[in-house]
Amino acid sequence: MCGIVGYIGNKEALPILIDGLKRLEYRGYDSAGFSVLNGNGIMTEKAVGKVVELENKVNGKNIKGSVGIAHTRWATHGKPSERNAHPHCDCEKNIFLVHNGIIENYKELKADLEKLGHKFSSETDTEVLAHLIEEYAKQVPWEEAVWRTLAHVQGTYGIATIKADDPERIIVARNGSPLVLGILEDGFIIASDIAPIVRHTDRVIYLEDGEMAEITKEKYEVINFKRKKVAKEISKIDWTLEEAEKKGYDHFMMKEIMEQPEAVENSIRGRLVVGEGIAKLGGLRDVAERTRHLKRIVIVSCGTSYYAGLVGKYMFEEYAGIRTDVEYASEFRYRKPILDEETAVLAISQSGETADTLAAIREAKNKGALTLGIVNVVGSTIARETDAGVYNHAGPEIGVASTKAFTSQLSILALFTLFLGRQRDMSYVMGKRIAEELEKIPELIKTILKQSGEIKKIAKKYSSFSNLFFLGRKYNFPIAMEGALKLKEISYAHAEGYPFGEMKHGPIALIDKNFPVVAIATKDSVYEKTMSGIQEVKARSGKVIALATKGDREIQKMVDDAVFVPKTLEMLTPLLSVVPLQLFAYYFAVNKSLDVDKPRNLAKSVTVE
Ligand code: G6P
Repeated sequence: MCGIVGYIGNKEALPILIDGLKRLEYRGYDSAGFSVLNGNGIMTEKAVGKVVELENKVNGKNIKGSVGIAHTRWATHGKPSERNAHPHCDCEKNIFLVHNGIIENYKELKADLEKLGHKFSSETDTEVLAHLIEEYAKQVPWEEAVWRTLAHVQGTYGIATIKADDPERIIVARNGSPLVLGILEDGFIIASDIAPIVRHTDRVIYLEDGEMAEITKEKYEVINFKRKKVAKEISKIDWTLEEAEKKGYDHFMMKEIMEQPEAVENSIRGRLVVGEGIAKLGGLRDVAERTRHLKRIVIVSCGTSYYAGLVGKYMFEEYAGIRTDVEYASEFRYRKPILDEETAVLAISQSGETADTLAAIREAKNKGALTLGIVNVVGSTIARETDAGVYNHAGPEIGVASTKAFTSQLSILALFTLFLGRQRDMSYVMGKRIAEELEKIPELIKTILKQSGEIKKIAKKYSSFSNLFFLGRKYNFPIAMEGALKLKEISYAHAEGYPFGEMKHGPIALIDKNFPVVAIATKDSVYEKTMSGIQEVKARSGKVIALATKGDREIQKMVDDAVFVPKTLEMLTPLLSVVPLQLFAYYFAVNKSLDVDKPRNLAKSVTVE
């Protein structure tokens, strides 16, 4: 977790650093800090809370300097406080460092350093890095001291460090936490991802694990763990700054909900060949022979991406005839997964940096499975480490609660289903049907978004309830889970997602007039069963908000409130039914005056285990 930014060049560093931190806040926002170097040494400031607190604190202060590092934190070791906020420094206040990741052996290192007389001023794991570099730097040059330090460290890191008595350089290194170097006309910016970089340049270098870079105003040099210089490829960013901004919406989450027609369109563009009933997935071309013979798929993911995976299981099994298991990445990696060459492990990850998902993929690779990815962030670690994969092209997602990435993931899973199904026994007619229906989804989502006023009213009506159920069957069971997750993430209401059929095996005991049920009851193969479930809830004085198919008059008579979605192929209903639930959660939270883009205790990209 955490976000880091560094700048070296001819401009004032502070505004660039503060702006960069704001763009990285989705990675954590419990405290922030920076260190800026000028001719008179290093100036460091820290503040608890969001980046704006830090900005307010330094407003009006004369902080000059064109070299600096900064950090926005999501606490792992040590509570959020100024003391624990980064940058951290050595005893002499000479070496300053920001870190994203976890140093697992920090306790032993700290004990050794304390024996040598080092004094620590925080509870963080990070601070050992500054002191260890200080210790080595007594004998060897700074860059060598950084190498030696990193060689003693177990864990993950993306670091950026500056030194008061060596003020013309920034040294950065990566192992397990992302770092991107932006190449400017008159300097360089380093960051945990491209968000802080995109407004300055579209030319970037992605550092790999085990690489370190020494950066001056004029040049950079990347060295790998064998101490060999690496000639890095310069990549071009294709996200614009505007795409990463709010476009007039109050929150990124709302902007991203509204962008879903476009996000889905971008995900399927050029990949769906409707006339032939096939999906062309360039990213899978090289492994197409292997995918043809796959006997099993294991989907690994976390959070919202996990629920997308659950929908994928229903799709793959029903239409591609491939046994599919879906696993929480955080469990998969600690089990003894049974994998073989006829199994593909498919990681689904918006950020492409989720530590648990990455570890699961590495484990799968070790065991000989084919590794595949559905990833939104181009150039992210999971995208680079999987054997093959498909990018979402959903554009940047900044709101912590995932919305457009989810519908985009579902559309890619539908493309995967076509791809795998047509490699097997899916008929042309069925392939064409799926392709035709998928192509219509963006327009259908637009019709749902037009009902946001109605949904807002319903959300307001229920926003005083503190317990809610979300129930759905078959393809909409994962959507019930996702609807509940959205609500709890941003509104802090207790929301439980359940398969509708399971309700009678326990949860029904909770139903009363204070525990409303959001029932997904679209007209599909399980509609009748779902209707019986709704009757059971009503018979126990439960309030029901139904999500139904347009034109369903019968349901309207039975329930307290209803929202309607257009009809589509059953396998694609999740792409529609999730949208009202996102809007419901959004308005529910806004009604409680909560910061939906930055919910408490969460972070967008969880790069710790
Ligand atoms: C975090 C976020 C969730 C997200 C999950 C997986 O927990 O708060 O919104 O679904 O990580 O993230 P990924 O980037 O791997 O999809």
